[in-house]
Amino acid sequence: MADVTITPRKNGPYMVQGPLKLIDPAGNEFTVEEDIIFLCRCGESENKPFCDGAHRSCGFEADTTAG
Ligand code: FES
Repeated sequence: MADVTITPRKNGPYMVQGPLKLIDPAGNEFTVEEDIIFLCRCGESENKPFCDGAHRSCGFEADTTAG
């Protein structure tokens, strides 16, 4: 089984890398054409669940670290 890596970007989205499926609450699959996607975590994207760059203009701040 291949690994999927999720990396919270500083002041930005979750970067998800690896073979993945993205499913909505009804069980429908989003079209994902690459093995890397960026998921909004600021709440301001007009294209949720994907990041559209709105985090840059809304002042979103998050410096998530594991240690
Ligand atoms: S994290 Fe980029 S638009 Fe929300």
